[in-house]
Amino acid sequence: MIQIRSCEGFDELQACVELQIETWGYDESDAIPRKTFLLAQKIGGQVLGAFDGETLAGFAMSLPGIKEFQSGPRPYLHSHMLAVRESHRNRGVGAQLKWEQRREALSRGIRHIEWTFDPLEIKNAFLNIHRLGAVSRTYLVDFYGVSSSRLQGGLPTDRLLAEWELDSPRVEAALAQRPATTQSIEECIIVPASIDEWKANEASRERALIVQLENREKFKQAFTRGLAVVGFSRDANGNGVFELGPAPQAWFETRKE
Ligand SMILES: CC(C)(COP(=O)(O)OP(=O)(O)OC[C@H]1O[C@@H](n2cnc3c(N)ncnc32)[C@H](O)[C@@H]1OP(=O)(O)O)[C@@H](O)C(=O)NCCC(=O)NCCS
Repeated sequence: MIQIRSCEGFDELQACVELQIETWGYDESDAIPRKTFLLAQKIGGQVLGAFDGETLAGFAMSLPGIKEFQSGPRPYLHSHMLAVRESHRNRGVGAQLKWEQRREALSRGIRHIEWTFDPLEIKNAFLNIHRLGAVSRTYLVDFYGVSSSRLQGGLPTDRLLAEWELDSPRVEAALAQRPATTQSIEECIIVPASIDEWKANEASRERALIVQLENREKFKQAFTRGLAVVGFSRDANGNGVFELGPAPQAWFETRKE
């Protein structure tokens, strides 16, 4: 039985720091210290934990921000980290943490959460776009610069920006596990099923880099044409398929471009 709740006290925040290091293998230059987790909580962000008894099985950390919306500047959350302990993955814990982020944000009148994710990570794309109903229309080239993350495999830190409009019909459908409204798909961008293996091995890393560079151009061109990532699926061979189409403006109705 997993309990999702806000982390409390220094020990629980320290457990997040440790799980962060265990998950990404960060060195000192990249790891976020306990102080910053504490500040995130104090200044209107979130540090949510998934607890299996006393054990921290996962956490989600977000920072508050301010953005220009049509009605003027408004607060939103930038979800900076989501991690689930390896022993607890693929049981819905990551999704539960995200849905609690949403619930808690809406309870304070915050209607928008965003985060970045690596478009080469098929599982994350599936969770973010398909399960949670986030949308993406921004590609960030080498966003963080060099990273000591084990998951990055030494590749440039390219990211897609996930935009989560918390009370949009699309996200509400995702929460209710109803299919989203059918979108017309104009382009698909493929991530080979073997990408993790290619990234993890020095000898094959070049292949992963080629995919990254090719997909980078495809995303950038599609976004310039006004398309957005509106769906994500896996084909019969386990390849990841980003589905791009026109995103209805209503999904972003309050945002000033
Ligand atoms: C990303 C992460 C937080 C997800 O946590 P989790 O608890 O395993 O996630 P969930 O079980 O809620 O959802 C994962 C979904 O992806 C599916 N999945 C698992 N492996 C997959 C794969 N290789 N390709 C596509 N989907 C996959 C799962 O079946 C599940 O879908 P389902 O609900 O339809 O069964 C976790 O894997 C993790 O900590 N990864 C390392 C850190 C990281 O990448 N953080 C995210 C940064 S955006």
